[in-house]
Amino acid sequence: MTIVHTPVLLEETIHYLAPRTEGEFMIDATLGEGGHSFAFLSRFPTLRMVGIDADRDIQERARERLGGFGERIRFYQGWSQDYFAESGDGDERPDTILIDLGVSMYHYEESGRGFSFRKDEALDMRIDTSRGDTAADLIARLPEKDLADMIYNNAGERYSRRIAHSIVENRSRGAITGTAALADMVSRAVPAEYRRLRAHPATKTFQALRIAVNGELCRLLELLEPALRALKAGGRMGVISFHSLEDRGVKNFFRDKSRDCICPPEMPICRCEGRRVVNLVTRKAVAPGFDEVRNNPPSRSAKLRVVEKVLDEDIQA
Ligand SMILES: C[S@@+](CC[C@H](N)C(=O)[O-])C[C@H]1O[C@@H](n2cnc3c(N)ncnc32)[C@H](O)[C@@H]1O
Repeated sequence: MTIVHTPVLLEETIHYLAPRTEGEFMIDATLGEGGHSFAFLSRFPTLRMVGIDADRDIQERARERLGGFGERIRFYQGWSQDYFAESGDGDERPDTILIDLGVSMYHYEESGRGFSFRKDEALDMRIDTSRGDTAADLIARLPEKDLADMIYNNAGERYSRRIAHSIVENRSRGAITGTAALADMVSRAVPAEYRRLRAHPATKTFQALRIAVNGELCRLLELLEPALRALKAGGRMGVISFHSLEDRGVKNFFRDKSRDCICPPEMPICRCEGRRVVNLVTRKAVAPGFDEVRNNPPSRSAKLRVVEKVLDEDIQA
């Protein structure tokens, strides 16, 4: 098996999330091919982990790669938010949680599910292939305005309306089921100067579809809240995000959790009865350095934010 994904911000992640005592328990909530987990388990011989991924196929690869660590790693196949929601009082609470959002290089290069326009594949794009709409389903079903909004809101594509219009025109002549057909359609829908830019004109449309198919933005808060609740007081949580909307969601979530009161400024007295739950360990997002971006260009948009939990929400009343 060839590993195709290089873990991003690896040294920075280890720096901020390294265990501080023997025998700690860590959750890798987005295991992928297990790059971060492999490094943590190798460097910290008494660390124990659970690795979670919603994608059955990639998890098989991680199981094979991490098999040598034996009982020190267990696996959960499913969405992390479901894992945290299902864990109860009797379950061990993690000292550390790592969330490395989005998809892996495996999805683009090996999955055959149409994440990339570089190969002609069926337009699926689902992380969890057992349920939900595929990209082809969304393209076939969404009204033109919703398609345009999705492409604009998820990826900031400035030609979203032209692209949506072209999709709707083309689908009336036959189903759009392949990546090459979609990429070609997008290229023809945008102005010529846009085609001459470095990035392929379909880059943002593909990103927007992937985010929509996997509900990535709506799943973010569904994930952060129960993950933080599960974390032990004193424990640390790190989140790596790859685009500005995701990073804003993470930043705002951590900022609110780091304040005693989140009432609007015009409120004369506090009504939220909030209590600070975390300290911000990284005041600004940590970005990859020049060498990392040169050696692994997909890391260029990565941002890491880390918090330390100071208060157990369940016992704050
Ligand atoms: C960026 S990759 C992780 C790469 C990994 N850190 C490594 O170094 O190999 C994200 C992985 O998390 C999975 N994933 C994304 N969101 C998820 C979620 N909410 N729950 C479970 N798995 C998720 C994806 O299927 C993908 O394999």
